[in-house]
Amino acid sequence: MRPFLPPTLFLAAAALMAGDPVKDLPKFQGGDLNRYWADACARCHGVTGNGRDNNGRQLPDAGFDFTDSRKANRKKDSDWVKVMQEGKDKMPAFKDKMAAEEVQRMIPILRKFAAK
Ligand code: HEC
Repeated sequence: MRPFLPPTLFLAAAALMAGDPVKDLPKFQGGDLNRYWADACARCHGVTGNGRDNNGRQLPDAGFDFTDSRKANRKKDSDWVKVMQEGKDKMPAFKDKMAAEEVQRMIPILRKFAAK
């Protein structure tokens, strides 16, 4: 008997249905990094970087409010690069999903959240 879905697809679908924010993380495929923020980061950090969903509810795995300029301005680019590459607690490592140069290019996008 043929399985309904190949096992890997089935696992991905199960992760999506369970709303697991880590298991179905896409790889950066080139193009607009703002788009990648929406696809890969916003599920935890919020579309506008404030750690809230579109209904204004606090997201469980946000960890940091990028729109809080007082806090964000105290953070160093190099520390943010390290967290994006290596991960930290619930923040997944992205070194297998983005090239080092792309991680660097994410910094101005993160800085812009606080500038608004
Ligand atoms: C599964 C949820 C999740 C996803 C997906 C995620 N993050 Fe995070 N991120 C977190 C959490 C939680 C923290 C706080 C980690 C800590 O300090 O314990 C964090 C912290 C960070 C920090 C450090 C903030 C600080 O404390 O100074 C940066 C930078 C960051 N994330 C960028 C990103 C980017 C860029 C993406 C997408 C490419 C992303 N994150 C995707 C959960 C997530």
